[in-house]
Parts: sequence; C-alpha cells; structure tokens
Amino acid sequence: MTPLAHAFEGALRWVDERVGVSALGPVAKKKTVPIHRHTVWYYVGGMVLFLFFLQVATGILLLFYYRPSAGEAYESVQFLMADVKFGWLIRSIHAWGANLMVFLVFVHLFSVLILKAYRPPRELTWVSGVLLLFLALGLGFTGYLLPWNELAFFATRVGTEIPGVIPVVGEFTKNVLRGGEDVTGATLTRFYALHISVLPGLTFALIALHVLLVQRLGMSVPLKVEQNGGGKRTIPFVPNFLLRDLVGWLTALAVLATLAAFFPAHLGEKADPFASAPEGIKPEWYFMFMFQTLKYLPAHILGIEGELVGVLAFGLGGVILLLVPFLDRASARGEDRSTWRNIALVALLYILILTYLGYTANPAV
Ligand code: HEM
Repeated sequence: MTPLAHAFEGALRWVDERVGVSALGPVAKKKTVPIHRHTVWYYVGGMVLFLFFLQVATGILLLFYYRPSAGEAYESVQFLMADVKFGWLIRSIHAWGANLMVFLVFVHLFSVLILKAYRPPRELTWVSGVLLLFLALGLGFTGYLLPWNELAFFATRVGTEIPGVIPVVGEFTKNVLRGGEDVTGATLTRFYALHISVLPGLTFALIALHVLLVQRLGMSVPLKVEQNGGGKRTIPFVPNFLLRDLVGWLTALAVLATLAAFFPAHLGEKADPFASAPEGIKPEWYFMFMFQTLKYLPAHILGIEGELVGVLAFGLGGVILLLVPFLDRASARGEDRSTWRNIALVALLYILILTYLGYTANPAV
C-alpha cells in the first residue's frame, strides 16, 4: 500500500471511529429491489430527488446576485443574465429544472397510483408524497414571481385572486398571500421568504420522511405481478440499482442541460403595476388545467358562483388524492379491481385535455 493510500485509510478509520458510518454498510448490503416489467417506474422518484438537490444548488448560486425588492429584483436578474459569467446558464437550469421536477413528480404520482403502490403498509409514503406535490407546486408558484417581470406579475395577480372567491376565509387568504390588497413589493418579499426558506425547509423534512419510509418498507411489487407469481427476482440496491439510478440522474441532467443551453429562460419586460394586463397572461403549465376549467364554468351553478364551485371541486380533489390509500379498500384487501385505476386514467386524461385547450383554445386570453 502506498503511503498516500495508507494515510487515507487511517483518516477514514479516524472518522468512522467517531461517526460510525460503517454501521450503514450492512443496511446498504441488505437492501434489494424487485425486478419485474414495471421496474422502470422505480427510477422516477430518484430522478425527482436528484432534481430537487440540483434546484437547491442552483438556487443558492442565484442568491449570490438576486435582490428581493420590487425596485431591484428585475435589474438584478437582468445583470445576472447579461453580465455574470454563466449566470444565464444557472438561471436557465433552475427555471427548466423546476418544470422538469414538477413534470416528473406528476409522472411519479401517476405511476404509483396506477400500480397501486399506496397499498398498506405504504399509506404514509403516499400521503407524504401528495404533500410533496403540493410543496413542489408552491415552490413553482412563488418562484415564478421572483424576477418581477410583467408576465409573472399579472399571473400572480390572477393566481392570488382565485382563493378570494371562497366565502369567509377567501379575502383573508388572498390578503395574507399578497401581503396587502394588491400584488406589490410586499408580495415579492413574502414569496421570496416562502420560496427560499419555508417551502424548501418543509420539502427537505418531508423528503427525509418519504425516503426513510421507502427504505424501511422496501419497494412494492404491483398486485398483478405478485398474483401471477412474479416479482420474486431481486437485485442488490448497492451497487446494482444505484448505478441504474445514476443513469436516470444523468438522463435528467442531459435533458436539462440541452433545454437550458438551447432555450435559455426569458426575462421579458419589467412589471408595471399601473399598466393594464398584457395579452396572453398564463399560469405555469402545471396550473393550466385548473385555470382553463375555471374559464369554462358558467357564472352560476345551482345559484352558487361558478368559480367558487370550481375552486371547491379542486379542493375536494386534493383531499381525495390525499386519502386514496384509505378509500381504495379493495386493493388493501389484495383484490385487483380496476375502479381506482380508471379514476386515475380519467383524471390524467382530463388534465391533458384541459392543458392542451389552455394553450390552443384561446391563445390571446
Ligand atoms: C419531491 C417529491 C418526491 C420525491 C423526491 C420522491 C422520492 C421517492 C423515491 C426516491 C422513491 C423510491 C423510488 C421510486 O419508487 O421511484 C419514492 C417512492 C414512492 N413515492 Fe415518492 N417522491 C416524491 C413525491 C411523491 C408523490 C407526489 C407521491 C404520490 C402521491 C409519491 C409516492 C410514493 C410511493 C407510494 C412510493 C413507494 C413506491 C413503491 O414502494 O413501489 N411520491 N419516492
């Protein structure tokens, strides 16, 4: 052994005697992953995890230049894009990374929903997952406003208007979100605090719980595969599955780098609160299906304001989503009925169609 290798081994032993990391060795060795024809979906959660850490890293780099005030935010992003070396690339990776992460969270959600991976004992893995989806959407919504450009300003005005339709608590919620009656510098400060500390902090904690549960319970085998006697073949997590996971991460990184390099993030015009709303105000694509639904609703449904019915329906949808493992009693008993799979497919189709209509039916609105 060379003196350098010897010194390195000594240093590792020194750290291990104090931290005890080698105790994780047997745990890592014991972990295995079932191999069957749906195994490919197991990589998506890992890709989301990778993207979240990438968002944290690029977000910290952006913070070195970003200034969170209505007077300086736009200019600081403009400076970052034009004058800071590779500033445009970091911002573009962060912006595209947010979109890719939300997209993969949806893919992950629908894959575990259709494969019914939420069956006991994985109910809490599911519940923590749905909360992570809400947090990812919250991160997207709050981050969108930070460059303080025209499009983001008016989209935030429309977005924060929506909870205002709820009786009793609506107006209060709207004002708390905005930090006042309208979207102003106070809203920006608020969204900034949420975006860089509250929401990432909660996301960190929930990811820790989510991944801990996955580690404790192991990966599930879909009911159908199990009933056909499949899913018994496994591979070790370290190194075999981890190396496959790495391929997923590198794929995500390659897609992201390509998008960021060829389609850098736009900045547009600076927000002017006194200007009239420009044409084509759109929310981020992941809110589009809700936005478009609200547009199609009539002014009144059974004497209740149409928009309120829509908002309440989406709220109820969120609660049902959270409770899927407790509502699908048949799967819990080990019966592979298609009811919930069909509900999932209809919901997916609805989201896809309404999103498509959002971009094509009335592009000028
Ligand atoms: C920031 C968001 C999320 C991260 C970082 C994340 C991460 C992970 C990882 C690494 C795994 C193990 C590998 C895999 O199955 O893909 C996993 C499994 C799982 N996730 Fe997520 N997840 C997130 C959001 C969600 C959402 C939105 C749901 C559903 C509502 C969900 C439900 C589950 C379930 C039920 C499993 C267990 C799958 C099984 O045992 O077969 N997760 N997640």
